[in-house]
Amino acid sequence: MIPRAVLAQAQKELLDWNSTGMSVMEMSHRSKQYLPIIEDAEANLRALLNIPNNYKVLFLQGGAITQNYMVPMNLLAGRSASYVASGYWSKRTYSDAQAFNNMNMAASSESINYTKAPNFNSWNYSKNDAYIHFCLNETIHGVEYFDDPKITDVPLVCDMSSNILSRGINVSNYGVIYAGAQKNIGPAGLTLVIVRDDLLNYAEKKTPTTFSWKIQSDNNSMINTPSTFSIYIAGLVFKWLNEMGGLKEVEKLNKEKAESLYSFIDQSEFYYNDIDLSNRSRMNVPFRIRDDTLTMSFVEAAEKKGLYQLKGHRLVGGLRASIYNAMPIEGIHALIKFMKDFEKNNT
Ligand SMILES: Cc1ncc(COP(=O)(O)O)c(C=O)c1O
Repeated sequence: MIPRAVLAQAQKELLDWNSTGMSVMEMSHRSKQYLPIIEDAEANLRALLNIPNNYKVLFLQGGAITQNYMVPMNLLAGRSASYVASGYWSKRTYSDAQAFNNMNMAASSESINYTKAPNFNSWNYSKNDAYIHFCLNETIHGVEYFDDPKITDVPLVCDMSSNILSRGINVSNYGVIYAGAQKNIGPAGLTLVIVRDDLLNYAEKKTPTTFSWKIQSDNNSMINTPSTFSIYIAGLVFKWLNEMGGLKEVEKLNKEKAESLYSFIDQSEFYYNDIDLSNRSRMNVPFRIRDDTLTMSFVEAAEKKGLYQLKGHRLVGGLRASIYNAMPIEGIHALIKFMKDFEKNNT
């Protein structure tokens, strides 16, 4: 979901942004009208995440998957790297990385169906690695790391596509953070990269200019035309989050939402969630009906009540409630009420 207030503001400004007589979609990305939009977006994001000055913020394209290639192209420089697989997306990142040499698996929870993320202290990496890649929240499996990574001898590269801005993090714990925008940031088409500036000097010579963090950073993410409208909406979302009271406030709400849903699931004998308590995602709550033959009728009946997109990912089946920042607590209450009724009608 995109916050209602943000959609309403975008609607109001759609034909004429700030008395310019133009829609944001019609502006040149280098124009004096557009530059304050991208600059404000960055300033609001920096305030939200408390991003230190030695980190660059890049507004790129290609989605999180393109970073699977951009990360090694920008960092590897002939060295090795390690990957942690805590669910579908980080395993896929590792598989994509096999196009490069010396890519190792530091830890994987595949053998336990990704029901628990490998602890930081179990990661088997080399001090000579260029980086360690992991995913802070596995969207499909609903597995999230909550403790602070304490690894300082090798830069951490983290895919935060599905939980960025859901709570405060210490940016300094990471070398690189990236996220596709389409969960907690704004519309698809924008990929956010936050990179420590000393890591900008390792790119392979043949790295395309649009893929080079360094070149994009030197050109304020404008070595080619950025996704201007997505950046504008993202900027409105960042402002909305700051006005809500920042990420402390957002985290409080997200905790309340997730805890309500998990505690309902846990007290039920009809539904279940089998993720380790220490790693239950606050953004994506996968659950199953013990009698799996009821899953499709659950999805259909929920849609009739205006509760959409509850079908689990096609790779794992079951059900999944994605409860990103813009989902209000009322949405959780409506879902729990529906789940209670569905249980009553089917037992
Ligand atoms: C954690 C995570 N990583 C990567 C991706 C892939 O993102 P994109 O479609 O932006 O390439 C997703 C998409 O759902 C995701 O949730």
